Formats: sequence, C-alpha cells, structure tokens
Amino acid sequence: MGNYKSRILMDCLENLSQNESFTDMQEYIQHGRTNCLLHSIAVAYFSYSAATFLHLKLNQKSLIRGALLHDFFLYDWHDPDATHKLHGFTHPKTAFENALHIWELNDIEKDIILKHMFPLVPALPRYKESILVCVIDKICSMAEILFLPYCKEVRILYFFTQIKYFNCD
Ligand SMILES: [Fe+2]
Ligand SMILES: [Fe+2]
Repeated sequence: MGNYKSRILMDCLENLSQNESFTDMQEYIQHGRTNCLLHSIAVAYFSYSAATFLHLKLNQKSLIRGALLHDFFLYDWHDPDATHKLHGFTHPKTAFENALHIWELNDIEKDIILKHMFPLVPALPRYKESILVCVIDKICSMAEILFLPYCKEVRILYFFTQIKYFNCD
C-alpha cells in the first residue's frame, strides 16, 4: 500500500521518538518474537491503512498517536512478578499514565489507550479512532502469536526508529 511514505505516520513516529522512553518499548517482548515498539508501529500502520482504505473521516494524527502509545506500559509482562499478574486488565491505565507523564494527549488519544482492551476491560471505546485501534490491535496480536512476519512498510517504519539521528532534535 506504500503508506510508509505518508508524512503523517513518519511525523508522529519522529515526534514521539524524540523521547527515548518511546523507543524503550523495543526492550520488551509483546507477543511471539515481536517487541512492544514493533507491535505499536504495526497497530498504528494498519489502523491508518484501514481508515484510508475505508475512507473513514477521522482524526488521523490522533489515531496514529493513540495507536503508537496504546501499549506504552514499559515492563516485561511475561516476567512472573506479582505486579504484572493482572496485566491484561491493568496495562491500559499504566500506558496512559506513562504517556501522560511525557506528552499532552487529547480526548481521542486518551480513549484509544484506555479502551483498547475492550471487551476484556469493560470500558466501551467512545470514538471511531478507539474502535479501530481496538480491532486492529487484536488482529496484530493474533498475527504475532502465529509468528506471521509484518510487511515491508511496517519494517521500514521500525527501521527509522533505530537510526540515531532520527531520535534527536
Ligand atoms: Fe495492550
Ligand atoms: Fe497492543
């Protein structure tokens, strides 16, 4: 689809990467062999691609930023630590608090992060953007559990976060 060329995806990624906590997500495995950074980039990419394909009128920047931050919990949930026991239920709130500590978030971005675990967490997504991320997150998670590789566009976006000059002003 060639969406990696889209300025808005690159801009959001570049902006968030200014803070190294964002790229720290690569330290933590999400599913299979996929780390949290790659997972979040994939969710943002496919949410944006689906919105474009379906001609959905929505806030693209908030969709992408919310998707990129939806799993910003910054710990290894596979770690058998008692504090991670309820990870599935608690990590949206943790990601939300971590993100809010660094960035200003609008209502759509907040809703995306806090509601992405619906229906496990029974908080109904309020915006089109949050419904989309909630669905795409589940599809991406399934692909990762099945060890399906991500497309070239997602890998290129991830590659950019690995380049040092991309991560400083
Ligand atoms: Fe999550
Ligand atoms: Fe996720």
